[in-house]
Amino acid sequence: MSLHSPRVVVGLTGGIAAYKVVSVIRELVADGCDVHVVPSESALNFVGRATLEAISRNPVHDTIFDGVAEVRHVALGQSADVILVAPATANTLSALATGRADTLMLTTILASRAPLVVAPAMHTEMWENAATRSNVATLRERGVTLVGPGVGRLTGTDSGIGRLAEPAEIVAAVRASCGTHDLVGLNIVVTTGGTREPIDPVRFIGNRSSGIQGIALATAAQARGATVTLIAGALDVPLPSQLTCVRVETAEDMRSAVRAAHATADVVIMAAAISDYRVETVSSEKLKKSAGVPEIRLVENPDILAELGSLKSGTFLVGFAAETSVERFAEFAADKARRKGVDLLVANSVADNAVFGSQDTDVHLFDGRGVAVDSVRGSKVSVAHRILDHISRWKDTHQ
Ligand SMILES: Cc1cc2nc3c(=O)[nH]c(=O)nc-3n(C[C@H](O)[C@H](O)[C@H](O)COP(=O)(O)O)c2cc1C
Repeated sequence: MSLHSPRVVVGLTGGIAAYKVVSVIRELVADGCDVHVVPSESALNFVGRATLEAISRNPVHDTIFDGVAEVRHVALGQSADVILVAPATANTLSALATGRADTLMLTTILASRAPLVVAPAMHTEMWENAATRSNVATLRERGVTLVGPGVGRLTGTDSGIGRLAEPAEIVAAVRASCGTHDLVGLNIVVTTGGTREPIDPVRFIGNRSSGIQGIALATAAQARGATVTLIAGALDVPLPSQLTCVRVETAEDMRSAVRAAHATADVVIMAAAISDYRVETVSSEKLKKSAGVPEIRLVENPDILAELGSLKSGTFLVGFAAETSVERFAEFAADKARRKGVDLLVANSVADNAVFGSQDTDVHLFDGRGVAVDSVRGSKVSVAHRILDHISRWKDTHQ
């Protein structure tokens, strides 16, 4: 949302997943949104007002008879660009479906013409209850956007459907509802995760890539209107269900999948960590310890990024570089941008391992001539949007 700063009202309700919504609010603020949180009374049992005010950087109100002179019970709703209810409890889904207006959150929602995004979270039995099904169907019929719930671990030892959607999915749905559809018409291929090069049937050479950045890019690009194909290696995080994904294991698999997708792509974003080497002869049997320390000979894998860069096909190519040298970071990154023939190189320093698996990163962007053009420090979602802003500008000048 770096293109403009929409006002997002977040209705926080009383589910255990409220703590996760703090990171959604943080993402939205980092993304340039003006966020106002209106919690239900129950929600404040889960997350304190101080946390919500500090993270949203706005005062938090929760009673109808506060701020009467400024008609607060409707003013916030009237000025919202989008309203998000997250986590949405079964109780609040019912209140929304029947149009109740006995709390500040509910009057705000009822007094608003802004798009409503709802991210339910509850135990499976509550979600599958006929009353909840009926309330959800009513909300869908009225054009409310539902995000999730997903399937996975719930509060206790149980698991099933009812888990709050991942924060990146919720942020993407809010952005989509804000109407920033600047990437409509673009076919974008994103690679993510790490490749695994087998040694024998049970062992492989892998890397620390989690896949978070690529998933953030794919989710954000889709929310901004692009048609997205995600090509994913090994991941440490769940894959959002709304993404079209091709799963691969080795660098060779990745190369075949990228080549197939490249034919119709306008943009290829190579965020995956692809192994430079593979094992020359993969053992069909598990290597036995009793046979002694094995000698494993490596051979070079194809350089997929350089191959794409040499095609000069008119496709906008984004490469990633993970640099461990602090002193020569910019020099190495600029050199890589020139050598690989990319249009944009996203370089991050991985000297202290802090980037792998983290939701945050610190990147520097270089153009194809190796000139530093931008830098972003923050969440991987905000980095994704900044990269997409560059693609959006390229689209405006080339299409
Ligand atoms: C520890 C705890 C966790 C809860 N988690 C959820 C939940 O995840 N989803 C849900 O629908 N209700 C949950 N509830 C029940 C709601 O808090 C309760 O229905 C409340 O009335 C919701 O009010 P609100 O919708 O106005 O926030 C939970 C209650 C407790 C005590």
